[in-house]
Formats: sequence, C-alpha cells, structure tokens
Amino acid sequence: MTSTAKSELLKRLFDADGEPVSGQNLADEFGVSRTAIWKYVKELEQEGYEIGTVRKKGYYLISTPDRVNEANIKKYLTTEAFGRTIRYFESCDSTQFIAHELAQEGAQDGTVVVAEEQLTGKGRMARPWDSKAYKGIWMSVITRPHLTPQQAPQMTLVAAVAITRAIEEVTGLTAQIKWPNDLLINQKKITGILTELQADPDLIKSIILGIGINVNQSIEEFPDELTSIATSLKIELGQSVNRAKLIATTLKYLEEYTKLYEAHGFSPIKLLWESYSNTIGRRIRATMVNQTVEGLAIGITEEGMLELKLDDGTIYGVYSGDIEF
Ligand code: BTN
Repeated sequence: MTSTAKSELLKRLFDADGEPVSGQNLADEFGVSRTAIWKYVKELEQEGYEIGTVRKKGYYLISTPDRVNEANIKKYLTTEAFGRTIRYFESCDSTQFIAHELAQEGAQDGTVVVAEEQLTGKGRMARPWDSKAYKGIWMSVITRPHLTPQQAPQMTLVAAVAITRAIEEVTGLTAQIKWPNDLLINQKKITGILTELQADPDLIKSIILGIGINVNQSIEEFPDELTSIATSLKIELGQSVNRAKLIATTLKYLEEYTKLYEAHGFSPIKLLWESYSNTIGRRIRATMVNQTVEGLAIGITEEGMLELKLDDGTIYGVYSGDIEF
C-alpha cells in the first residue's frame, strides 16, 4: 500500500466520524489482504492516532495526533494545486533547503514541504528562525507563477495577505502587516516570510515561499531574546490552534491570491495589503544594506516598493530592508 492509500484509509476513518469501518471492505477496495490493513492501522497507531476495534464491525478513529502530516492537512484542503503534493518531515534542517532541491528536480506548482521541527530554520538576512517541534507551522511552498522576475518580490506581499486572511478565518485574530513581510499581533511578531527565487534573467523557474507561523508556543517556550518581540496565536487567543487547518486555509488563500495577481496584476493585492498594513501613514526609519533613511510611509507602489516622503519633500522608494517606527 502506498502512502496515498494509507492516507485514503485514514480519510475513511475520519469520514466515518467515529463509526466502525470494515477491515474486509477496505481490504477488498484497496486490493490488499486484511492483514495488510491491520499493519497500516498499527502504523497509524505508532504515529499517534488512537484507533479502536469493534469485533466483526471494524476499525474506528478515537483521536488524531496534533501533527501537520499529509493526512491531517488534506482533511481540510480545498485547493486545486497548492498542497496537493506534501512532503512531511518530523525533523529537518530547513524546509527551505529541501524545497530548493525539489524545485530543481522539477517539483510541481504548489508542492509543500512541511516539518514539525527545523534544526537550522533560517530567517531573512541569514538570521536564525526558532522552529520548535509541534509548536508552529514551518513550511515552504514551491510556486511556479506566470510572472516576470520583476514581479517576483510582490509574491512576498501576496503571501503576507494570504496568511493574514487565513489567521483571521481560523482564529478570528487580525494580524497587521509590517512592510514587507512581518505579521504582527499586538506589535509582536507572529509570522515571518522568506521569499527565494530560482530564475533565469527573464524567466521565473520557481518562487519558494518560506513561511514560519508561531502557533502553539507558550511564552516560556520562546528563547529569552524573543519574548519581548515575538508572540504566538495560542498566547493571543488563550487556546491552542489546529495547525493542519491553518496550513490548509493558508494554502487556499495563497492559491487564490496568486491567481488574482497573475490575472489582474498587483492592484487588487495592493488594496488588500494596505487594508492590513500597520506601516502606511507612520513615520519610519528604513535600514538598507548601505544606508538609513527616515520619513513618512505614504504607500506601496505597483512594484511592492515602500514609498517614503522625506523631510525635504522628496519621495524615496525602499525596495528591501528593515523598518522601525
Ligand atoms: C523572517 O521573518 O526572517 C522569515 C522567517 C521564515 C521562516 C520560515 S520557517 C519555514 C521556512 N524554512 C526556513 O528555514 N525558513 C522559512
């Protein structure tokens, strides 16, 4: 039985909603022996599923482990392409490294690499990204949008809007977007996005969206240096959040907004982004590789660049960098 058939078996147990499903029927349907079905049930139990047996009636699902594996994500997935292929790891160095390799090997649009834990999670500007086991969403999405390389940086803003919408839908919390790609709740960071490109001068091969969402950490579970600047959905909401559901919902909006961007350009995304922004209308300091400028953030351009009005009245465009208020 392939891993797809195993997730099919799991789906049957989910769909049965606690009612027993006949092992013999499953065996017949999948063209395998009843012993094979029993082995997969044992494997699922090893993975943390609680499965009961009723004599002569079959197997039923008692509880599901809090895992972001393929079966749990697919339970909520409504997309066409995004998340249809999922590579799941209990632990890895960085989902971003794996996604780069898969993209080079030709992985299809919307392929997701997700891990329970990253040992060397990376953030922007080569900073480390704290990725504790079972506490957050650490995933990379390989996208192959029909865009020019010049349109690629805006995909970060597409992702920021998609994740904000997903967080809103699943938790009711509204995050604010700090240009270009940090999501904050109560001024503390809830999500980071790392956008990386594989491209020829005039052709995008793939855009790899690395997404880190702090979901179920308690305050003590953050390293000391992060407690004043980071938060989690659990801290803000006062209860745990279903990570698999949040992943599926993020993929739904990511697919929808990527299509919107491809079909209608950046304007509709810009409107959404501005509605969630905490940056526009504020005086900010932008630190770039070799200079720092201060001014009033007046908007973003069609290229996703942040526009600042400097004290002498000149308009200055910031392509990339860090901002402070
Ligand atoms: C940032 O704000 O600096 C970006 C953080 C991006 C973190 C994610 S977690 C999944 C993916 N794998 C990584 O190693 N990094 C990104």
